[in-house]
Amino acid sequence: MDRRKFLSNMSAATVASIAGHATLSEKADALEEAMSLELDKRIATPWMCSIDPTPEEVAGDTRPWYQHDDPRLPEMPAAPTLRDFFKLRFAPASHVLQSARYARINGMDEKVVLACLLHDICVSNLIRTDHGYWCAQMIRPYVDEEIAWAIEAHQALRFFPDESVGYEYPEAYIRFFGADYKPEPYIVQAYEQAKNHKWYMTGRLITLNDLYSFEEGVEVDVDDFEDIIGRHFRQPKEGLGFDGSPVAHMWRSIIWPNNFL
Ligand SMILES: [Fe+2]
Ligand SMILES: [Fe+2]
Repeated sequence: MDRRKFLSNMSAATVASIAGHATLSEKADALEEAMSLELDKRIATPWMCSIDPTPEEVAGDTRPWYQHDDPRLPEMPAAPTLRDFFKLRFAPASHVLQSARYARINGMDEKVVLACLLHDICVSNLIRTDHGYWCAQMIRPYVDEEIAWAIEAHQALRFFPDESVGYEYPEAYIRFFGADYKPEPYIVQAYEQAKNHKWYMTGRLITLNDLYSFEEGVEVDVDDFEDIIGRHFRQPKEGLGFDGSPVAHMWRSIIWPNNFL
């Protein structure tokens, strides 16, 4: 572990716990323990499966863990809508909002605009790895299958250029993953299947409108897409997370990301 990086990124709670020890040797032990916990968290355990006791305590609240009532998060309505998730959990959600805006400016079909709006919603809010599959699963009960299919396909399509629409391998991926990175065989296989599929172009258009850099000064609000959401997203009346669908738990995990169990 890069000690310097670790020290500069330590949470306030970790700093306080180390500083709370009286002697230098106790402080050193506490630092060692914090680093080992951090290592476990980063390498051995997916972060979403492991919670810390309330890392930033709220004055007057002495509960060691927050269960269903986390005062650090905005309260969600009893029957939350997609808009509520955007406003209260996903915000600022600039990437998906700007991608959807771009798709609309480019004159895309409403289904493509909605697909762009939803294509990465789990990344900052639930899970990053295999995000195309997770995002597609989250929304599948509420949209046309074409939209869910396209979002799932974008996981693989991002890695493969398509000159017919001017899509190139993202320059950012060369920086992120190295120039010699090759997608895993399951991604190659998914691409091979997707490219002959009748909805290929819907998935491809997600990648084409997927913005890798943000436009400065462009403010996009989810309410700009109210009409498209209204026409193409079947909002359950019980609220997302409470409709008994096979994916309800995924939405609940976003409502209460810090539940003890
Ligand atoms: Fe994505
Ligand atoms: Fe994206």
